[in-house]
Amino acid sequence: MPRRRVVVGNWKMNPATVHEAAELAVRVREATAGIAGVELAVAPPYVAIPAVSEALDGAHLRVCAQDVHEDPKGAHTAAVPATMLRGLVTQVIVGHSEVRRESGDDDARVNAKLRRALEVGLEPIVCVGEELDLRRTGRAEDFVRGQVRAAFQGINADGAEHVAIAYEPIWAIGTGVPATGGDAQATIAAIREEVRALYGDTVADALPILYGGSVSGATIGEFAGQSDIDGALVGGASLDAEDFARIARSVAS
Ligand code: PGA
Repeated sequence: MPRRRVVVGNWKMNPATVHEAAELAVRVREATAGIAGVELAVAPPYVAIPAVSEALDGAHLRVCAQDVHEDPKGAHTAAVPATMLRGLVTQVIVGHSEVRRESGDDDARVNAKLRRALEVGLEPIVCVGEELDLRRTGRAEDFVRGQVRAAFQGINADGAEHVAIAYEPIWAIGTGVPATGGDAQATIAAIREEVRALYGDTVADALPILYGGSVSGATIGEFAGQSDIDGALVGGASLDAEDFARIARSVAS
C-alpha cells in the first residue's frame, strides 16, 4: 500500500496578528484548492488556531499545533494542555529543534509530549535532526536513530501508527541551504530502519517521514522523488501560499 503523502506548513511566530494568520489561511486554501493525493495542514500560533480553522472551514487543509505540554494540567504558566487542543486541531508538532533549543526540551520531554498527544487522540509529528558539527563527523544517522528510539520509548505499535516523523537537519532550517536529496533520503531510510527495528514492517512501511529544512517550490524536487521521503515540513516557504501550493503539487505527483 502506498504511504500517505503529507505537507505541513509550520508558520512559527510569523503571522504577527490573528487577522494576518486568517488571511494567510484563506490564500493557502485558495492556492491549494483541487490538489489531490497529499494531506495538507498548516500550523499557526496557538491563539490564531480558531480563526485559521474558521477560515479553512470545510477545506482540504487540517490545522496543526506547534507544540503541547506533556502534563494533563497544573502549574505551568504559559503552557497549553493537550485536551484544550483536541477538537481545535488534529495534529501537533513535537520536538521541533526551535522548541528543543528555546525551551530546553530534551529527548525525555519530547517522549512525554508524544505520549500525551497520543493519549488524547492527536496525531503527532515528531521532529528529529542533527547539528552541522555532527553531520561533519559522520555520526548524523546514529544520532537521529537515537532521537527516534528515545521519542518512541514506551509507545506501542497502536500508538506509533498515528505518528509521523519529520527529519529536519538543524543546519538546514531557515538557512536557504537544504540538505541534498541524496543525504536526506539516506538519513530518512535509516530512520525508517529504526522504526522497523522497533515496530516491524507494517508500521515502518506505513509511517510517513517528512523532510524539513529550507524546502521551497524551487528545492522540493530534490526530495519529492526520493523513495523514503513522504512529504515536507515547510517553514518560510509556507508563508507564501503559491509556493506552498507548488510544494504540495510536487509531493502529490
Ligand atoms: P524552513 O523551516 O522551511 O524555514 O527551513 C522548516 C521548519 O523549521 O520546520
